[in-house]
Amino acid sequence: MTGMIRKCEDDDIPVMLEIINDAARAFQGVIPGDCWSEPYMPRDELLAEIEDGVEFWGHEEAGQLIGIMGIQGVGEVTLIRHAYVRTSRRNRGVGSRLLKELRRMASGPILMGTWIDAVWAIAFYEKHGFRRLTGAQSARLLRRYWKISDRQVKNSVVLAERGWREPD
Ligand SMILES: CC(C)(COP(=O)(O)OP(=O)(O)OC[C@H]1O[C@@H](n2cnc3c(N)ncnc32)[C@H](O)[C@@H]1OP(=O)(O)O)[C@@H](O)C(=O)NCCC(=O)NCCS
Repeated sequence: MTGMIRKCEDDDIPVMLEIINDAARAFQGVIPGDCWSEPYMPRDELLAEIEDGVEFWGHEEAGQLIGIMGIQGVGEVTLIRHAYVRTSRRNRGVGSRLLKELRRMASGPILMGTWIDAVWAIAFYEKHGFRRLTGAQSARLLRRYWKISDRQVKNSVVLAERGWREPD
């Protein structure tokens, strides 16, 4: 595959929002209606995530970002946050390449959360060796490591690297 992976900078924010809000159309009509908004991620929310320590990396082809993925160290774990590839550029390995790169950067065991109804995202992470955790364990971890609404906790699932054990 051509292209390169690079860190996203402040100048990339408009195009990052474009990618997120294009890719997130996959959730429309799939996740509960009250969890969907238009745009899916407003600018303020993306800025707050960056402020909170989410570092975004992007896959660029011919000078254009086509996919982004965030990584965030929280305590002893590393979270993969906000994985989005432009709708027109899916299933060409971009998400896999970003995930591999971010896995190399992780300092602790990796956890990721997504919507229970996003079956394609769950399949994507399982293909990469992540294991889907139970509902109770997901809810506990989402409350411990993520800052999301109760409604989102209830409708999300956590996946972890194989072999990861929740500390007592
Ligand atoms: C999830 C996502 C980031 C994957 O990126 P990608 O570049 O399309 O992924 P890759 O090409 O590297 O890998 C494709 C794999 O993803 C899974 N996948 C992707 N789209 C799928 C779909 N519509 N149905 C089923 N599985 C799908 C499959 O496991 C596929 O594996 P295969 O190549 O063996 O068929 C991308 O589909 C996306 O942006 N989706 C919308 C937003 C989203 O769901 N984000 C993740 C949760 S925050």
